[in-house]
Amino acid sequence: MNERDSEQVARMFTEGGYTVTKDEFKADAILVNTCSVRDQAEQKALGKMGSMVQHRKKRPHVVYGFMGCMAQSRGQELFQNVPHLDVVVGTQKYHKVFEYVDGILQNRLERRMDDLKLTYKGDHICDIDEEKDSQNTIKDHVKETTDPTAFVSIMQGCNMKCSYCIVPDTRGRERGRPIQDIVEECESLVARGVKEVTLLGQIVNLYGRTEFPKVDGKSPFVQLLEAVHAIEGLERIRFTSPHPIGYRDDLVEAFTYLPKLCSHIHFPMQSGSDRILKLMRRPYKNEKFIEICKKMKAARPDMAITTDIIVGFPGETEEDFEETVKCVKELEFDNCFVFRYSQRRNTPAADMLDQLSEKVKEDRNQRLLAVVNEIAQRKNNALVGTVQEVLCTGPSKNNPNTLNSRTPQNKIVILEGNPDRLVGKVFKAKIHECTGFTLYGTPIIESLEEAE
Ligand code: 5AD
Ligand code: SF4
Repeated sequence: MNERDSEQVARMFTEGGYTVTKDEFKADAILVNTCSVRDQAEQKALGKMGSMVQHRKKRPHVVYGFMGCMAQSRGQELFQNVPHLDVVVGTQKYHKVFEYVDGILQNRLERRMDDLKLTYKGDHICDIDEEKDSQNTIKDHVKETTDPTAFVSIMQGCNMKCSYCIVPDTRGRERGRPIQDIVEECESLVARGVKEVTLLGQIVNLYGRTEFPKVDGKSPFVQLLEAVHAIEGLERIRFTSPHPIGYRDDLVEAFTYLPKLCSHIHFPMQSGSDRILKLMRRPYKNEKFIEICKKMKAARPDMAITTDIIVGFPGETEEDFEETVKCVKELEFDNCFVFRYSQRRNTPAADMLDQLSEKVKEDRNQRLLAVVNEIAQRKNNALVGTVQEVLCTGPSKNNPNTLNSRTPQNKIVILEGNPDRLVGKVFKAKIHECTGFTLYGTPIIESLEEAE
């Protein structure tokens, strides 16, 4: 979601005549978009922003900004931590970043023409207000990219109140975009060569519940899936992340009649213990979570399920943790992101008395990861020798001589082959090797010819 928001901001700058560089030494403006979900990310962003003050020495006009969740939750206080900071822009104001940064930059460059010795302190513009309909402003994409996959933000905010989570505070209440706007965005992506879209929302299956009515017993989210599915030329649809609340049969059924929906859901479980779920203020029982997973596997036998789990939540006992481990073994997740609980400001869990030590959190983290990795390795081993359908997305980051691709289950398959022929295509590949989370395969050229 943060990446998607950053892309929107980048597009506004390119429209305004700027170019995007990853080289901070060349930049006239340096913007950091920060996630606040865990403390570690915030500390890293603060450290990075602090060290970048060095650029002011050679390029005194450089404009510095924080945007996103950390900007939203810390606001003005950031100027005390980072005195050279110019702008702090919250999660409902991404569309204003260009105006603020460009304004400061133009002003500085003009003033420097008159006096080359001028140096600048931070300008200290802070805009973290709410803005009605701001969810509709995250809609543009960087034009130059040839990536056949794209993220589409369908809503902002979250009305849930999980006791550990800072998101309702940083992103505000749920606000969905109109179906037609989302469909038009997907159509324009497809016209540019995109083959796969991932619909993004904090609780994506509850999309539109406060704005749009059910039709024929179908939730607004299922209506949206049907509308996106009808786009010609679009081959794959994903979404992330759904919540067990509101994960109803209409959504399960959608997987039986919408073949473009990929056989994968990332479905955060958070804990396998009912006692901890209650303390987390997640209003469902573990049994219900398991039931939804089983229904999804019945709807699509090749369904892969990945999840998020928090270990070391305040008061989590060894028995609670063992229940989580038991559930992970039972459901055999294809992958699992394990997070050590992190105390977040203004969240009820941060004030709970029974906070656990980092040692206990780390120990449970390692033990759970060992279980997760063993399952993932076993599942990957079983795929060696099989043929999988993949979408080739481009050169692999680790070795640009090889290509990255993904199966419908979202497993990475590394291929060798001609990028001009393969990138952006869906075809079959024979899997000949695997490591923990990566498969290696060979394209089956006949399947490519059929697709052409
Ligand atoms: N501590 C640790 N993990 C957290 N998450 C959210 N808040 C916290 C927290 N305070 C995890 C949840 C969520 C994922 C995006 O981040 O598992 O699904
Ligand atoms: Fe946070 Fe819970 Fe909302 Fe997810 S559903 S964003 S964990 S409050």
